Formats: sequence, structure tokens, C-alpha cells
Amino acid sequence: MKRTDVLLEPASSGLPVLSSQNSRAIAEIGFGNGEFLIHLAKEERDCLVFGMEISMTCAEKAIKRALREGVPNVRIIRGDARFLLRECFEDQSLDKIYMSFPCPWPKERHSRRRVTHKGFSDTVASVLKVGGEFELATDEEWYAQEVGKVLGEHPALELVSFDVNKRRKITTKYERKWLDQGKDTFILVFEKKGKCTVSRTVEGGLKDMHVAIDGERASFTPLEGGFLNVSDGVGEAHWNLGKVYYNGEDAWLVQAITSDDGYEQKFYLKVVRRGEGALVRIDEASSPYLTPAVRGAVDAAAACLSRS
Ligand SMILES: C[S@@+](CC[C@H](N)C(=O)[O-])C[C@H]1O[C@@H](n2cnc3c(N)ncnc32)[C@H](O)[C@@H]1O
Repeated sequence: MKRTDVLLEPASSGLPVLSSQNSRAIAEIGFGNGEFLIHLAKEERDCLVFGMEISMTCAEKAIKRALREGVPNVRIIRGDARFLLRECFEDQSLDKIYMSFPCPWPKERHSRRRVTHKGFSDTVASVLKVGGEFELATDEEWYAQEVGKVLGEHPALELVSFDVNKRRKITTKYERKWLDQGKDTFILVFEKKGKCTVSRTVEGGLKDMHVAIDGERASFTPLEGGFLNVSDGVGEAHWNLGKVYYNGEDAWLVQAITSDDGYEQKFYLKVVRRGEGALVRIDEASSPYLTPAVRGAVDAAAACLSRS
């Protein structure tokens, strides 16, 4: 098994990675050191086990562990699971989702990161197969109560168990830490009762993101200062254009930062002189998911160069 067999870096064009036609599949969100994930994969040899983790350090550790222990059915996707779960998995494609000891995000300004955020419960409900389960472990009682109430009220999910200090067959690093310290742990299991769907934001291919300024002269003056001070948005999609790099001939790179409902991406746009006009596209070295905010960034850069 090679490193690339374990790590999935889903290109925009390659989404989703899992369809509802697959046989058994499990996912873990925020796997930390990867111990629980690799144990799961060993226990469930006939099942694909996906791990989603935002930290590159944790992802690397889990890849090494999977390679060292020779577990062929693990797939690691690095990134924000709130986004990846929705965009990489079709409706009714997962048998079980585990999430152990996530940060409860107690501050109000972080509330959209919580499991209880409506967008997240809709995603979990959609990607689970009917009869599939979402299992959440936490050491915060108030959080367990809140998750139980909010997810339990989702029309497609039912809270089927709420256990205190239950010893799971496989434990995580944090779980053992809290149990060893005598802290209470809470394990909630929700079952999916009926089919449902969630709307996805990634669509189209890279080519759909090209904007040509033809039939008029493009103005490159806004790029000459080395900085495009553009910041705009529509609804939950926001984009910012900043530093500009010039190759001294016919091309510029523009740094872009976007956010779709809190999901951030950083990448470069490329502006190429074409006759009197220009072509604006995503630079080949960047591979953002093609979201509404990325579309907004491309259009905004093109608007800067357009004289009319
Ligand atoms: C407190 S640790 C728990 C780790 C492990 N589950 C355990 O119980 O030992 C939370 C983990 O979630 C990851 N994480 C936080 N937000 C995330 C997100 N939006 N998507 C994926 N992983 C995330 C963190 O990087 C961290 O590894």
C-alpha cells in the first residue's frame, strides 16, 4: 500500500468520492491521532473507512499509522469535515458516522461550527443510509443535552441512546484521558429513519470558471499596484482579492480568499493577456472546490479588468 492509496485529495472534478451504490462505508470526523480510525478499519475489513480531519499534522500521523499497520480499507480526506461530508458523499451513502470529543464551540460567534448548526444536521441526515447511525461522544453534559435535543428534532433523525460513561469497544485518546481522570463521558446515538437530501454547493468543472474579456480592450492598470483591494459577497458567499504577482511578460497571479457559509479557501487566480483582451481563470497550481464564492472571485477579478 502506498501513501497515495490512503490519502484522498478530492479534486473539484472528482467529487463526490462515495456514491450510494457503494457497499458498507463508515466515516469518522476529527479523528485526531487516527487510533480509533485505524482500529475501526481493522474491525470492519469489508468496509471502506473514511477519516476527515482538518489538521495536516493529524492527517499525516494517521497516514503513517495506516501504512505501518497495513490497513488497506482506510481513506483519509484532509479538510473541514462540515464541508467534505456534504460535498464528497452522496445521499444515503454511509452506514455510520463517528464524531468523538469535538470542540463544543461555546462562544456565540462560533456557533455555526457546532454539530447543532442546522446545516450540519441536514448533512449528517442526508449522507447516512436509512437505518444508519451518527454516534457522538463528548465530555460536556450541556453539550450532550443540546446535541440530543437539536439533532433529535431533525425529521429524519431519532435519538436512540444516550449513555453516560459507557465503555466502548474501541476508545479514542481523549476518551481514555477523560475516563482516567474520572470525568463523565456522554455517548449519543442517532438513527436515520427516512430518506432526505441536502443541497450541495460544488458544481461544474474548472473550464466553467474561465472568464474571457474579448471584443474589448482589457485594462491591466488595476493590477499594476501589486494589490487588488476587492472584498464582496452575496448571501453566504464572500470573496477577497489581494496581492498581485506579475511574471514580467503577459501573466499575473492574484491571491484570493473565499468563504462559503464559513468554509474558507485560499488560492490564486491567473490573468493572462490575450491580444487586446484577457483570460481570467483559476491557476493550475491551486485546486479550490468550485463553490459560489470561488465563482464570485473569478467574476470580480474579470470585472476589475473590464473597461466597460
Ligand atoms: C479534541 S480533538 C479529538 C480527537 C479524537 N477524536 C479523540 O477523541 O481523541 C478534535 C479533533 O477534531 C479536529 N477538527 C476540528 N474541527 C474540525 C473540522 N471542521 N473538520 C475536521 N476535523 C476537525 C481537530 O483537528 C482535532 O483533531
